[in-house]
Amino acid sequence: MLLSGRGSNFRAIAEARLPIEIAAVISNRPRAAGLEYARSRGIAAVALDHTEHPDRVAFDALLADEIERHQPDLVVLAGYMRILSPAFIARFEGRLLNIHPSLLPMFPGLKTHERALAEGIKIHGCTVHFVTADLDHGPIVIQAAVPVRADDTPDTLAARVLAQEHRIYPQAIRWFAEGRLEINRGHVNLKDDPTSQSVLPTGM
Ligand code: GRF
Repeated sequence: MLLSGRGSNFRAIAEARLPIEIAAVISNRPRAAGLEYARSRGIAAVALDHTEHPDRVAFDALLADEIERHQPDLVVLAGYMRILSPAFIARFEGRLLNIHPSLLPMFPGLKTHERALAEGIKIHGCTVHFVTADLDHGPIVIQAAVPVRADDTPDTLAARVLAQEHRIYPQAIRWFAEGRLEINRGHVNLKDDPTSQSVLPTGM
């Protein structure tokens, strides 16, 4: 599990009673609240401060080595706020998941809630996807939608989306752990589901 901050997605995953063991939590920010929470649950918590390693490629190589030390089947980005180098992504491709606070391919990048409000869209949401070299464009595993209300601010909208993030990330990880996610020509199929419906009911 990689994170940079508050770690609410990590927490939701840790509390979801999934058939997994969280091998370690690694943060590029030593003071990330997510590290504290990991320690409180007896999960290995590692701080790798990127400001001490200004070269991104060298830092990512260190990070990758640290990850490998814990031998995970899956690497989960849960609010990891750094762009990953192509070499890192290639090393973990197919076992690297991210959550993004928009209905991709709408609003890749930052400030998604502000941008959604500025566009006046009526439905917003979040996406769990496999990470590829194409930023925020990897194969989509699951999405959830929320309504945008007339009086929403970026904060109220973010909170509504976050509640859905906490539902769909554990679900995506459960499917991965069960071996049910198959990537075929850039699309994710959910094995043993004839309709392959990986859209949860909306939180409307
Ligand atoms: C979430 O909004 C997630 O979609 C984005 O970063 C935020 C992380 O929040 N990638 P948290 O640290 O999991 O609370």
